[in-house]
Amino acid sequence: TETHYHEFVVQATPIKRLCRSRSILTVNGLFPGPTIEVRDGDALVIKVINRATYNVTIHWHGIRQKGTQWADGPAYVTQCPIQPGSAYTYRFSIQNQDGTLWWHAHSRWIRATVYGALIIYPKLGVPYPFQKPNKEFPILLGEWWDNDILAIMRQALFSGAAPNMSDAYTINGQPGDLYRCSSLDTTIFYVDAGDTILFRVINAALNQQLFFAVSDHILTVVGADAAYNKPFTTRVIMVGPGQTTNVLLTADQPPARYYMATKAYASAQGVPFDNTTATAILVYNSIPCQSKKGSFFQPVLPQLPNYNDTTTVTAFTSQFRSLSSSNSKVLTDIDESLFITVGLGFFNCIPGPTCQGPNGTRFASSMNNVSFVLPRGVSLLQAYYQNTPGIFTTDFPPIPPIQFDYTGNVPQALWQPNLGTKLYKLKFGAKVQIVLQDTGILSIEDHPIHLHGYQFFVVGQGFGNFNPSTDTANFNLNDPPERNTIGVPVGGWAAIRFLADNPGVWLVHCHIDAHLTWGLAMAFLVENGPGLLQSVGTPPLDLPQC
Ligand code: C2O
Repeated sequence: TETHYHEFVVQATPIKRLCRSRSILTVNGLFPGPTIEVRDGDALVIKVINRATYNVTIHWHGIRQKGTQWADGPAYVTQCPIQPGSAYTYRFSIQNQDGTLWWHAHSRWIRATVYGALIIYPKLGVPYPFQKPNKEFPILLGEWWDNDILAIMRQALFSGAAPNMSDAYTINGQPGDLYRCSSLDTTIFYVDAGDTILFRVINAALNQQLFFAVSDHILTVVGADAAYNKPFTTRVIMVGPGQTTNVLLTADQPPARYYMATKAYASAQGVPFDNTTATAILVYNSIPCQSKKGSFFQPVLPQLPNYNDTTTVTAFTSQFRSLSSSNSKVLTDIDESLFITVGLGFFNCIPGPTCQGPNGTRFASSMNNVSFVLPRGVSLLQAYYQNTPGIFTTDFPPIPPIQFDYTGNVPQALWQPNLGTKLYKLKFGAKVQIVLQDTGILSIEDHPIHLHGYQFFVVGQGFGNFNPSTDTANFNLNDPPERNTIGVPVGGWAAIRFLADNPGVWLVHCHIDAHLTWGLAMAFLVENGPGLLQSVGTPPLDLPQC
């Protein structure tokens, strides 16, 4: 094993897109940020230096951080932010996982431009469980805004209107030649005829689920969220914010240029979204000269589903089966069972000039009717470690306070969320099941829910209200896929299971940042025995203070 040292300088950098130059936050001047490449078992030491004028933190999305809870990164959850002019060194190791993960800022909406790939190769000498690719490329799908991202965040939080949409989608930071002024801002991948290529597709978009396809080529899905699955083929994939999907592509078509394209999957009804298409180009090195003229040279767009094609998405996601079919890892008897509603669309009044929605309200979203509020002045993990009272409570409700037809048309008055910083205590070693249930108070919608500190098994998914008897009977306990971010389907539910073997404070949240900002989050406190020190190690000396 090896230790990798990196220095991440967060700084304002002028970047030109869509005809305009704008100052955005980057790491080391790069957009997207640097790719980190390691092997399973390696250690990482990453010094993050903040030369920006905003507070930042960096989260290593999908890394379990067992024993290194102070390195997880969400602001006010495991650390106070790194203030301008200061630095913090994240130290952690890769423990029995490989595949595609990523890193991103985890304070306010700064991750809009501060993100990059985190690629974990298998241990030295361990092959991939599929045909060895000739080439590999990370593909980071993202969003680009013409305006200041924190201004857009404030608008989403206070105005009582849906958040402003992005102005373009991007592939590796480039919108592609279908957007204005962007013919040079198009990512190009060069391949040789006959090559097999591994594309590591990461959805780093703030607020948008995305389809992705390559014209005339079939994709073989081999992994997601740093876990392998039984390979299956598809023409199009859908990736939710926070998720990653590994696909193999064989360059078996006539040598030419082929469009790769991404556009929105917008499951909610009535919520505005950007219906444009970002492109990249796959170029065969051996394009014959005579073909460089005429229509053969002009790539054609792949067929992408309609923006609301839930049928295609369901057919895609239901094909995921973990590579190994062994019951040994799958949890059969459950110690803790939670049923958590995830929903948005409620108004929640906070008196004051900041509530610009109807009657002095603003949007809120919640889990079991609690709209999550981050603490100020201290992180949850610090408050826990130092035993500081009054920062959080541990009374997050394991079931909804009232029962109703969750996905039906329910009056908003029935379900007014309360603000709270409520955690749920899990005993170390507990076998946990969570059913996540979408609600339809204002509108049903997909929610990509991310659990920090764990990979979990997705044992079931369906539409409508979860039915404990019939749906549980149909759970897949044989080869359920492992993920760190699960898309709760629009107007439906998803059931996950995991072993609570990682002590710490772990955030659970919707990876659509608009929903997170409105409060779609909670946190688990996993305690190992009675002593605090047994649960959480001593904080690093350079841990930022608020
Ligand atoms: Cu990728 Cu809490 O986030």
